[in-house]
Amino acid sequence: MSLTFPLTRNAQPKTADQVASVLADPGFGTYFTDHMAVATWTADEGWSGSEIRPYGPFQIDPAGAVLHYAQEIFEGLKAYRHADGSIHLFRPEANARRLQTSAARMMLPGLEVEDFLTAVTELVRADAHWVPEPEGEKSLYLRPFMFADEVFLGVRAAQRVTFSVIASPAGPYFAGGVKPVDIWVTDSYARAGAGGTGSAKCGGNYAASLIAQYEGYQHGCSQVLFIEATGKDRVEELGGMNVFLVTADGTLITPALTGTILEGVTRSSVLTLAAELGLDTDERQVHPDELFSGIREGRIVEAFSCGTAAVVTPIGSFRTVEGEWRLPENGLPHTMAIRNAILDIQYGRVPDTRGWMRRVV
Ligand SMILES: Cc1ncc(COP(=O)(O)O)c(C=O)c1O
Repeated sequence: MSLTFPLTRNAQPKTADQVASVLADPGFGTYFTDHMAVATWTADEGWSGSEIRPYGPFQIDPAGAVLHYAQEIFEGLKAYRHADGSIHLFRPEANARRLQTSAARMMLPGLEVEDFLTAVTELVRADAHWVPEPEGEKSLYLRPFMFADEVFLGVRAAQRVTFSVIASPAGPYFAGGVKPVDIWVTDSYARAGAGGTGSAKCGGNYAASLIAQYEGYQHGCSQVLFIEATGKDRVEELGGMNVFLVTADGTLITPALTGTILEGVTRSSVLTLAAELGLDTDERQVHPDELFSGIREGRIVEAFSCGTAAVVTPIGSFRTVEGEWRLPENGLPHTMAIRNAILDIQYGRVPDTRGWMRRVV
């Protein structure tokens, strides 16, 4: 039976002035709306207690399993307000299915796609006034997540789990206009290995990537590109985004999904949109040397990363301990065309011919 998420209204919501002041400059991941979705699963009873309730802390026992064994997964998607005031989600079914894939890998319970969609939809409806106006590429970021909250110490799958969705207004990733970013290619740290959790969206992957990110900061880079752990012979992805290379003859190359890479919803959308923009696509293994020599010899003319938070981010250079490979400053025609094509769909500036947008308000 499908879950419902009845609303218990927050008796002390933020005032209209407080919401307006947050929406004027939301940043990212700092402010949260008045409500949250919650449901609980137990091995005996399945899912129950689903509701939208006032945003507030969970009570977690010190022996709560997630605090010790990191049995946790999450998702990220956005709600966009269109010019006519309506509010839409971008391909939320893809996030629902990815949560199921992550859950299966981490021995967490499955949540039906329909239940995921109801939770997200009802939360956005309850907090619709928190979805910013479309100007300036603002949106409401939604964070569904699931964690083991059974009280026990011991390495086994938890028998009690919480699913929740919280929402946070998001400003434009590039406040002063889109600028290419420099990427650190780490030789010291891996994000995932064969048989590991690289294709699941679990918190532990991100904890493990932090040290490489800080290594990148020390080299003047804002993001890190991970290379396959064992043979060091495959480019994989960034800490929180997939990567694309654009060749001089108009082909988009992106690392194939080998089980160690997260299958980004943006990545899959870029691959679909490429054909309409006159670009060929090539999903395959990319050796780091192919990347570096391709830039040096002019075969690779643009590179970008992509994900829900930043949409499409042009890459200015790749750096390693051995040197820097800088992409030409050519105005990034393909990168910007792809970026604009996705944003136009998300903000309803062009017709949604693929049924990617789901209207919730
Ligand atoms: C490791 C990783 N790769 C790729 C992505 C991009 O995925 P999406 O386009 O679904 O946001 C993300 C963001 O969720 C990520 O964390």
